[in-house]
Amino acid sequence: MSTRPQPTTAELYGQYVMPTYARFPLALARGEGVRVWDEDGRAYLDFTSGIAVNALGHAHPALREALASQAATLVHTSNLYLTRPQAELARRLTGFVGTPGKVFFCNSGAEANEGLYKLARKHGAPRGRHEIVTLEGSFHGRTLGGIAATGQLKVKLGFGPPVGGFLNVPARIECVENAVNGKTAAIMVEPIQGEGGVRPLAAEFLRALRTLCDEHGLLLIYDEVQCGLGRTGHWCGWQAAGAADAVPDAVSWAKGIGGGFPLGAFWARETFADLLGPGTHGTTYGGSPLACAAANAVFDTIEKEDLLAAARARGTQLREAAAGLPLVREVRGAGLLLGVEVEDFAPVEGEEGTPALRLTKRLMAAGLLVVPAGEQTIRLLPPLNVSADECDEAIQILRDVLSAAESSSGVPAA
Ligand SMILES: Cc1ncc(COP(=O)(O)O)c(C=O)c1O
Repeated sequence: MSTRPQPTTAELYGQYVMPTYARFPLALARGEGVRVWDEDGRAYLDFTSGIAVNALGHAHPALREALASQAATLVHTSNLYLTRPQAELARRLTGFVGTPGKVFFCNSGAEANEGLYKLARKHGAPRGRHEIVTLEGSFHGRTLGGIAATGQLKVKLGFGPPVGGFLNVPARIECVENAVNGKTAAIMVEPIQGEGGVRPLAAEFLRALRTLCDEHGLLLIYDEVQCGLGRTGHWCGWQAAGAADAVPDAVSWAKGIGGGFPLGAFWARETFADLLGPGTHGTTYGGSPLACAAANAVFDTIEKEDLLAAARARGTQLREAAAGLPLVREVRGAGLLLGVEVEDFAPVEGEEGTPALRLTKRLMAAGLLVVPAGEQTIRLLPPLNVSADECDEAIQILRDVLSAAESSSGVPAA
């Protein structure tokens, strides 16, 4: 009997999985806490958390237990019926905003934002308004609506005429004011831009947007898919940005909400919470009892283990340590949503890509996983329960790799 060698995971991807991502050639097999292991058994410190998703790290007992017990009880019912985990999660999310309102559940960030575009249009329709003003440098997802909303040319290229009704303007109040016209229904921003390079919006800017929306009867929408629900050490990204008083009319969430189990949601203030009535919006899977049980377990754990305070403390530790490292130009963000911007450095032979990408690859070779954001910024996004020692370990790897880059001596030995 011939025993032909099995194709590698990378070979199977090459043949069968669409090349939509610039993937790293690293096949991950398992994870525990802040660590993941590749198929060869090599360990890495995971400071990506699946891009701000695994709030409790990998294989957390509370999440495992919630998923296993809900899976043995009721996985899915459709949204024609009521389930307790969804009802409780909606109450909890509304509590995080701290203002009366209601929640719609879906499956991802882009889908949550799509619901908000519809909410904005429904709100504007009686006055003939449908336009949504968004910011340059923003990221709102990969659907056709999402790429129209996103203020970055690279996501739009090759996809034909953009969905109408979106204006991307510079993040300055006079630019937003100029963009608002008789057709505007809403202004939508990320209080801390994530993909755009971890750029917090100024608190005064958020407050000025709130005032502008009040003056013109527009919805103020925050996309908190990346910066919401604890990542910044606060439940709400606008609180982390210093604008707790600039409460929005609607918010989208995803990423960290299910701790890795896919779930998205959006909330609207009471006044607008019934705009999407029966038959106007929906999804088959959104808010399944399984997904909501996962999210409830994530929030129970964050509360029980005081992980908002922990995220703030570890964020300060990382920020202060990273600011003193070679080649580091600036550290931005809040809590454990941190962007480290670096100077350009010389590529070694055969190395390609932006400084952020080259640095990410060198860090990976040295055992630390991070995510690039923009050309010269890497994101540090460890789980909210990362320890002080694990942060020290990550900083040591960063220091070694950046020192080597500074002296152009290439990748230090792992
Ligand atoms: C701010 C923001 N909005 C929307 C999205 C899209 O979310 P998803 O990838 O779950 O569709 C992302 C994803 O990175 C995001 O960071």
